[in-house]
Amino acid sequence: MSGARFVDVPASPHGRAARIAVHATGAGPLAVLLHGYPLDHRMWEAVRRGELAQRRTLAALDLRGHGSSPFAGDDAHAMERFADDVAAVVATLAPDGRADVVGLSMGGYAALAFAERHPQRLRSLALVDTRAAADAPAARAARDAAIAVATAQGAAAIADAMLPKLLAPGADPTVAAALRAMIAGTPVATIVADLRGLRDRADRTALLPTLQAPTLVVVGEHDAITPPAEAAAMAAAIPGARLVVAPGAGHMTPMEQPTAFAAALAAFWDTAG
Ligand code: MLT
Repeated sequence: MSGARFVDVPASPHGRAARIAVHATGAGPLAVLLHGYPLDHRMWEAVRRGELAQRRTLAALDLRGHGSSPFAGDDAHAMERFADDVAAVVATLAPDGRADVVGLSMGGYAALAFAERHPQRLRSLALVDTRAAADAPAARAARDAAIAVATAQGAAAIADAMLPKLLAPGADPTVAAALRAMIAGTPVATIVADLRGLRDRADRTALLPTLQAPTLVVVGEHDAITPPAEAAAMAAAIPGARLVVAPGAGHMTPMEQPTAFAAALAAFWDTAG
């Protein structure tokens, strides 16, 4: 399977009807790759070119309003709505109706919502540079401040504010440039809806001990946004979960250390079935 296609999803109490763009490469059982905030499918480019495509059909989604998926007009992008969009994609594309779900940061929050709402569609779960907890009061206030910045100054100002926190010290400048272009190219309406969804998302810590699917937790050793200690605690709370700490990576492990990331995911998939 190659190229991009669109999956239509109906309106629900969590959000409007939307078209979800799916960029698929590779062959075999379906794996969906869920990007972080405020990015799109291109953050998976390096890992989609490597060994993983020999094991799975790698479907990198553009979550609603991101990349080639149009903004649907939602006030907020609820994690539940993202999860239901992913379920519609899996139902449409997976021959057996299930997928390996890989989510980075906001994509990980959506992946946990997917695991809660659609467990029958989940073959395995990879939680990458992410957390289960909700925003604390200070983080919620920071979301409101970011909404004000995005609205007054645009997406480039969000890129300037975020970039220093996303990458490990000494990161490849081409990775930084690609990240900056992705963030600066994201519509402000999408950024604002994302920030409201992130601010108001549910705490899914209590879900962790109930997870049935094989789970991998990956975190960059220098991740300043979702730090290794928090990833370790999350992995410890999930029955049988494995933890991989990626040397030399910050918050964007699949972009910063794509070879090590792909090797960890390949080893996980090979043993998770
Ligand atoms: C992300 O990378 O998706 C964001 O940093 C998530 C967040 O801000 O909570």
